[in-house]
Amino acid sequence: MPQLRPVLSAAEIALKVKQIGAQISADYQGRDLVLVAVLKGAFIFLADLVRHLTVPVKIDFLQAASYGGATRSSGKVDLVKPIGIDIRGRDVLLVEDIVDTGLTVVRILDYLRSHAPRSLKLCTLIDKRERREAKVPIDYAGHTCEKGFLVGYGLDYAEDYRYLDGIFQLQP
Ligand code: IMP
Ligand code: MG
Repeated sequence: MPQLRPVLSAAEIALKVKQIGAQISADYQGRDLVLVAVLKGAFIFLADLVRHLTVPVKIDFLQAASYGGATRSSGKVDLVKPIGIDIRGRDVLLVEDIVDTGLTVVRILDYLRSHAPRSLKLCTLIDKRERREAKVPIDYAGHTCEKGFLVGYGLDYAEDYRYLDGIFQLQP
């Protein structure tokens, strides 16, 4: 059984999500905001985030090919579920669970940009920096760390641990 080292408690996450929600609400007042969340990892973050917003939003999801059982991005990213609503001319905010190498969000941002949104920004719960390979502009981040494989609050390892209310580092 792998060990889990606590990184963020449920209360710490709640505070960070509340702060990001306030920032986004201030920045998007009077705009036409669409949140596009990346399945599956961002589902809990998105659900909590939207309840802290004071601006109206539309919500959509897309899904990129997952890790399987490995703990490192393959670099080859396939979109397995495209967006379902028209984002042309709208303000789009991509909501991710974690940016690691950055290859996944770069691919997704390119895809979203091809649908001609009015603006496009990135919000990630976790900005994990050490393995970054692509230059990624992160507009909103809840928590920054250097390394380690994190699980809980939507984040999985081989589909396990998503249900945990805190975030933990998986110890090898
Ligand atoms: P990237 O393409 O290397 O930035 O990886 C991004 C994707 O890999 C994220 O959307 C996650 O699904 C997954 N991932 C990267 N690091 C972790 C982690 O520490 N825990 C869980 N999933 C991760
Ligand atoms: Mg993901």
